[in-house]
Amino acid sequence: MTLLRSRRSVRVFQERPVPEALLEQVLEAARWAPSPHGRQPWRFVIFSDRERKERLIERMSAAWEAQLRLDQQPEEIIALRLEKSRQRIRQAPVLILACLYLEDLDRYPDAERQENERIMAIQSLGAAVQNMLLMAYELGLDTGWMCAPLFCPTVVCEALELDRRLHPQALITLGYAAADPKRRPRLPLETLVIRLDRRRSGEREEGDVS
Ligand SMILES: Cc1cc2nc3c(=O)[nH]c(=O)nc-3n(C[C@H](O)[C@H](O)[C@H](O)COP(=O)(O)O)c2cc1C
Repeated sequence: MTLLRSRRSVRVFQERPVPEALLEQVLEAARWAPSPHGRQPWRFVIFSDRERKERLIERMSAAWEAQLRLDQQPEEIIALRLEKSRQRIRQAPVLILACLYLEDLDRYPDAERQENERIMAIQSLGAAVQNMLLMAYELGLDTGWMCAPLFCPTVVCEALELDRRLHPQALITLGYAAADPKRRPRLPLETLVIRLDRRRSGEREEGDVS
């Protein structure tokens, strides 16, 4: 519980590099996540070199800028958000691009079941990423989650020259936090949980004798 409650998203990192052995443990943690039919529909692309980062930044910024303009965001906000995002990628010691890999999923004749198969794969990718975030924190590392690649997957594949069977979903930044960010509060359990197994006072269960 201490580990679960202590992890928090980090958006600014030290320059300190991530030891290879720790990175491998983080990736190993992802491998053990549950997945539909045990198919492990994920692949993780790792990079840390300046050249790739800059290529990704340039290509993703152009795509995001166009989307922000569509939303009619003010110019200064567009510039600010883009610069923040660029900085996050530029100064992250390691980047993990979490991709869906759908080739091994079951095939169905109808579109609805196929779509559900895809959704299950996405759900399991989330479980794999969470394993990584927790393992990283356990090892004294910190992580951040950037959803940006989901909005321009083709651009990301081109920038990193990836196999087109990979579907970028999230960019995870990994390193050592520059400062300890605040932990965000959570909704109370009463809001999140619907306890059908608990009777409210005054309610009767079948078989009750009055
Ligand atoms: C699917 C998903 C997408 C997210 N995308 C972003 C993102 O693009 N940028 C960002 O700063 N944080 C992103 N986050 C992190 C959330 O903002 C963060 O987890 C949440 O505010 C709770 O804070 P905590 O992680 O510090 O507990 C994302 C988290 C998830 C699960």
